[in-house]
Amino acid sequence: MNTVKLSNGVLMPGIGFGVYQTKSGKETENAVEWALEAGYRHIDTAVIYGNETSVGKAVKKSGIPRDSLFITTKLWNEDIRKERVDQAFEKSLENLGLDYIDLYLIHWPAQGFEKAWKVMEELYNKGKIKAVGVSNFQIHHLKELEKVSLLKPMVNQIESNPVFNNQDLINYCKNENILVEAWSPLGGTGTTILGLPELESLGKKYSKSPAQIVIKWHLQRGLVPLPKSVHRERIFSNIDVYDFTLDSRDIELINSLNKNTRVGPDPDNFDF
Ligand code: A2P
Repeated sequence: MNTVKLSNGVLMPGIGFGVYQTKSGKETENAVEWALEAGYRHIDTAVIYGNETSVGKAVKKSGIPRDSLFITTKLWNEDIRKERVDQAFEKSLENLGLDYIDLYLIHWPAQGFEKAWKVMEELYNKGKIKAVGVSNFQIHHLKELEKVSLLKPMVNQIESNPVFNNQDLINYCKNENILVEAWSPLGGTGTTILGLPELESLGKKYSKSPAQIVIKWHLQRGLVPLPKSVHRERIFSNIDVYDFTLDSRDIELINSLNKNTRVGPDPDNFDF
């Protein structure tokens, strides 16, 4: 798997394994176990997913050395609003059975995120977090954060898929040296995006599945995608994307599928 270097020099495996909506218990344990077996070394969870403990169990069971793994989790909105960053962080560590987190993200730009960031900077300076970042931040949120922060976010994890490619925000982040991760890179649960005829015909052209085509598209545009699956075969195939390269016309074709329609909530108008 490829690796990318964050602005502070930390290396991140170039595809992460997503566990949003993966049920705690056996479903998450199996999925993470298969992902580690397949070769993923980057797992993306969040306290709100309710499956940190199961992720931690699978990680422990794998016996893979801690420094070969990259684990991300996220600070939830209520903990931002109620100024409980330290407690929330300790709870995530405990759930995961870890003594540091590779990447800790502000999950949504909830009110009080500037204050939360100051606490995250302290955790980073103590070495409890190897990299700090944000998720679902629009350009104006990033600018607001910049006014108060000493550390610039190393990552912004945002929605991006072929029908909502989010390219303007990605371009802004690239200029600011903020690495972009894509959530719902395949279009999320219940997606019909993978059935688009353009993606099916590209799949035939490269002898790959539409999902592999989309994952490669993300990689070639410099993103770190976080595909989610609970199926062993898909988990394996979603990282089997290093034996082909999309040519520039095909990248353009996928770019042209953009409809600016989100599958997830709008960071400028969310009520949770
Ligand atoms: P499942 O978990 O049942 O495999 P995203 O990563 O964009 O959130 O999308 C995840 C959705 O796409 C999930 O519903 C997942 O279902 C499905 N999915 C993941 N990998 C593939 C694949 N290779 N082919 C088809 N669907 C996939």
